Amino acid sequence: MKHLEKYIDHTLLKPAAGIADIEQLCKEAKEHGFYAVCVNSRFVPVAKKALEGSDVKIASVIGFPLGAMSTAAKVFETENSCENGAEEIDMVMEYGLLKEGHKQAVFDDIKAVVDAAAKYGAIVKVILETGALTDGEIVDACKLSEEAGAAFVKTSTGFGEGGATVHAVELMRKSVGPNVKVKASGGIRDRETALAMIEAGADRIGASAGIAICTVPEGEEENDPFEKEGPKNILVLNGSPKMSGNTAALVDAFCRGAQEAGHTVHVFNVANLNVHPCTDCQYCFDHAGECVLQDDMKRIMPHLYADDVIVFATPVYFYGFSAQIKTVLDRMICMQPSKMTVKGSILLSPYGDTDTTVPKPMIAMYKAFTGYIGWKNLGIVTAENCMDPGDIQGHRALAEAEALGKNL
Ligand SMILES: Cc1cc2nc3c(=O)[nH]c(=O)nc-3n(C[C@H](O)[C@H](O)[C@H](O)COP(=O)(O)O)c2cc1C
Repeated sequence: MKHLEKYIDHTLLKPAAGIADIEQLCKEAKEHGFYAVCVNSRFVPVAKKALEGSDVKIASVIGFPLGAMSTAAKVFETENSCENGAEEIDMVMEYGLLKEGHKQAVFDDIKAVVDAAAKYGAIVKVILETGALTDGEIVDACKLSEEAGAAFVKTSTGFGEGGATVHAVELMRKSVGPNVKVKASGGIRDRETALAMIEAGADRIGASAGIAICTVPEGEEENDPFEKEGPKNILVLNGSPKMSGNTAALVDAFCRGAQEAGHTVHVFNVANLNVHPCTDCQYCFDHAGECVLQDDMKRIMPHLYADDVIVFATPVYFYGFSAQIKTVLDRMICMQPSKMTVKGSILLSPYGDTDTTVPKPMIAMYKAFTGYIGWKNLGIVTAENCMDPGDIQGHRALAEAEALGKNL
C-alpha cells in the first residue's frame, strides 16, 4: 500500500502554534494531497483561506483536549467552526463521565454536537481517549457514539494518557457497524505504525508526521507490483438483477471516479449473462484451469489474467451476496493463481434495512475469500436504507464509491 495521503488528517494542535504555522500546515496538505487538516477551532478561518481552491477538508477539534467543557460550549464551538468552513468535527467525549457510568450524559453530549454539525452537513468524529479507558469502556463509548450518529470513533487527543494502539483500533473496529469509521491518532509518527493501524481497521490517520508517513521507502514500489503508478484495468461485476437499481447507481459512481482518474473499467451485468453454477467436477484442476462449462464465464475469466482490480457490486440478499454474483465467484475456482494479475478487490453493496449490522456476515465472507485468494481489500462501501430503486439518490455512499474509484 503506497498511497496513504488520503488517510491523513494533517494535524497541528499545539497551543504554541500560530497563524504562520497553520498556513504552513495547509500548504503541506495541499502539496501532498492529504485528506484534511486538523486544527483548533480558533484557526478554522485561517485554514479556510489557506486552502481556498483545494479539496483538502478542514477538521476542527471541539472541547479539546479534555472533553470536559459544557455541552452548550461544545455546540457553540461546533457551529462556529462549521460557519467558518469546517466540514469535520473532532470532538472529545466526556470520558470522565463515562468512567463513572453516566452513559446518558455522554450520549446527550455527543448527540448535541452531531445535531449541530448536521445542520451544516458536517460529520463528527468522537475522540474517546482510549488510553484512559478499559476495553469495556471503549466498547461502550463506541456504541454510544454510533447510536448518537457519529461518523467516526477516534482513539486519542495526543495530549492525554497514551496514544493510538493496534489493540484499541481493532477493538473499536469490532465495536461499531460498517458505516462508522475509525480514526487512529496520537503518537503515529512513522509509516510502519500508520500501516499497522490501517491493517487493524483504521480508515483515517491523524498525525503531524503525515509527510514522513507518506514517504515510500526506496524499493518498496518494486516489491509490490499492485502499487505501481499509472492507469489500472478494473473488472466490475454487478450482481443485481435490476439494471437501474441501487447497485447500478453505486457502480456508476465508482466508474465515474475511476474513469476520471484515468483507469479503464470493464463492467459486466452478471444477471444478463449465461453463467452456470460450479459442479465441483474438478476437471479444471488437471486441465490448466479450463472449465468444462461452456458459457459466459469465458468472457469474465480473461479479465482475471489481464486486469488489476476486481469489484464485487451486489445487493445484500439475506445477509449475503446475490446468487448471481455468488455463482460467478464460485466459478473462479478454476483460476490459475500464477497467471492471475488481479491483486486487489472492492465491495459495493446497497441494502434495504436501516440496521447497519446487516451487511456484517457478507463483509466477513468477502474478507475471508479475498484473503484466501490473496486479493488485497481496497475498500468496502455499503449503503443502508436502500430498498427500492432510486432510494440511493443523495446517499453518502455514492460519494464514497466515487472517491474510491478516483483514489485507486
Ligand atoms: C431475495 C432478496 C433478499 C434480500 N435480503 C435483504 C436483507 O437480508 N437485508 C436487507 O437489508 N435487504 C435485503 N434485500 C433488499 C435489497 O438488498 C435492496 O432492495 C437493494 O437495494 C437491492 O439493490 P438493487 O436495487 O441494486 O437491486 C433483499 C432483497 C431480495 C430481493
